[in-house]
Amino acid sequence: MLQIKRAGHSTLTTPDIERMVDYFTGIVGLSLATREKNRAILATKSGVEAIVLERSSAVDAPRLSFQVAPGSDLGEVASRLKKAGLKSERRSDITPGIGEAVAFKDPKGTTLEIFSDFAFAPEDTSYTGVMPLKFGHVAYQCPDVQGMVKFYCDMLGFRVSDWRSDFFVFLRCSRDHHTVNFLRDAKTSIHHIAFEVRDWSDIKRACDMLAKNNIKLTWGPIRHLIGHNIAVYHKNPDGVVIEFFCDLDQIHDEELGFFEPRPWHQDRPQRPKVWGDETPSNWWGPMSRGPGHGNTAAPATATDFQHKAVPKARAPALARARTRRVEKKSRR
Ligand SMILES: [Fe+2]
Repeated sequence: MLQIKRAGHSTLTTPDIERMVDYFTGIVGLSLATREKNRAILATKSGVEAIVLERSSAVDAPRLSFQVAPGSDLGEVASRLKKAGLKSERRSDITPGIGEAVAFKDPKGTTLEIFSDFAFAPEDTSYTGVMPLKFGHVAYQCPDVQGMVKFYCDMLGFRVSDWRSDFFVFLRCSRDHHTVNFLRDAKTSIHHIAFEVRDWSDIKRACDMLAKNNIKLTWGPIRHLIGHNIAVYHKNPDGVVIEFFCDLDQIHDEELGFFEPRPWHQDRPQRPKVWGDETPSNWWGPMSRGPGHGNTAAPATATDFQHKAVPKARAPALARARTRRVEKKSRR
């Protein structure tokens, strides 16, 4: 098994690369690190590569890069993949920051580029756009969510943070509550890409920035139940949903097994679990008809902000046992 440490960058294809460069630099506030005829590499202002744009007739997200521990032997990575029956290839010059990588496909067909070492892009001191701290997470729709969980956990070292029912999963590879999500759908496609911003004041600034540029929010501001991040969503010029978020749950010590306690957690301690259908409605998924599903259902309601207990009948047995222990303790 590999041990992924973080997501590197997402590669997006676009028919109008000029328009997308303008959007990612002017609105999102990334720095244009490299510009070639049919490709652009965008990094955070502090120089961490986040998005690669490639010219193509179709809008897609065909590749995703992940970092393993610095100094890792990529030959060893390739032989582990081979042992698991996966065909991979060594690639060079992925971006100016990533000289070497091992590439292979995940079960839904996304090419994963695994790298161990990278170089920062030059710092950009200009003040433009939202200026996120990092590329935070990426969500895909695909038919076989369970198969993706097995692959990402068994092969890449991800852990399950939460499920929404059995159709939407949140996987982590670091302290962050989620770095990849998979949402069950008949077709495979990108669902949304998320950038982390510093705090709520940056979320407000993002809303102002979007409004000033006549870009409507498709959802939010909201504090999610799953992951508890504050988030706003909009669509970029290619129609891909982009999220800005802050305050995502953190798991600081895997052995402790719970997320950083915060006052808005409905369970204390907050542990990975399955959120049942009775919990307040989410914008995603077959039960909601959200922006990823191309319709304009009613916007999020007040119930999205309420903290209701997960009905015990729907919670996993383990969570119920833990709840009983906590309740017993608190009665003493
Ligand atoms: Fe998200």
